[in-house]
Amino acid sequence: MKRQVRKAVFPVAGLGTRFLPATKASPKEMLPIVDKPLIQYGVEEAVAAGVETLVFIIGRTKNAIADHFDKAYELEAELEVRGKTDLLEVVRNIVPNGVECVYVRQAEALGLGHAVLCARPVVGDEPFAVILADDLIEEDAREGGALSQMTRHFNKYQCSILGVERVPKSESEKYGIVHPLPFATRLSNVEDIVEKPKPENAPSDLAVVGRYILTPRIFDLLTNIERGAGNEIQLTDGIAALLHEEQVLAYEFSGRRHDCGSKLGYLVATVEYGLRHPELGERFRNYLQTGGFLSAVKADPP
Ligand code: G1P
Repeated sequence: MKRQVRKAVFPVAGLGTRFLPATKASPKEMLPIVDKPLIQYGVEEAVAAGVETLVFIIGRTKNAIADHFDKAYELEAELEVRGKTDLLEVVRNIVPNGVECVYVRQAEALGLGHAVLCARPVVGDEPFAVILADDLIEEDAREGGALSQMTRHFNKYQCSILGVERVPKSESEKYGIVHPLPFATRLSNVEDIVEKPKPENAPSDLAVVGRYILTPRIFDLLTNIERGAGNEIQLTDGIAALLHEEQVLAYEFSGRRHDCGSKLGYLVATVEYGLRHPELGERFRNYLQTGGFLSAVKADPP
């Protein structure tokens, strides 16, 4: 019987040090792009791909995400009294009907591989997705979200699939980099994968960005691997072990990615989503095009 991806894991226990002090009491995945937190964009992408169970691996700043996806009785009652039906709908539909949220506490920040391993009791013996919500990927008008594109390939090939994108070799130290062998259009067999290699050691310019579909075999392998780069249990090392046993594909998804784990990437995403926002896009565009904005830039050189 063909297996399907019904669960998605969201590791959200990172310290978010690059965005301090904003991330002192709240995870970086709660940072908003215009009016929606990063994590919600990731959840919407997962739900559009057919995911029914959202597994959040939470850490120190545990409350904000659970509160965001929980029912907010007082807020809903207040919006109802004020007749704000549009906003009421927005708040009520944050988690669509039929979708379940599960929270697992990662007591120690031992790395991405460890965070994924924490999901094992909920995921069990099923294929599952991993979404790193600080990689914000725009939905492609024709092909849909990145995870939907990946699940379509999973349904066909029934093996682990990594979402990849070409990056300048000089940036290889920020990513897991794959050694690809061409397999089909925009799909490669992963021959090897290395976590954050120096540019001269990078096996290619294809970087894993925050989308994975993995078979449950990864859990056994993560249990046994040693600590790797940064003295952390790396998901990349688990995948390197997996590809000795099973086919692993790298898929070049369609849709622009914003690295919202960096301040510049976050600002760029904010501007681009702001320009397309149905309520304020036009006014924001006017603002950016006026001399007022340019004179502020001239007066305040960075
Ligand atoms: C993690 C992974 C890395 C991957 C990256 C994508 O790194 O370890 O392999 O390429 O996410 O964003 P991090 O950004 O957590 O350092």
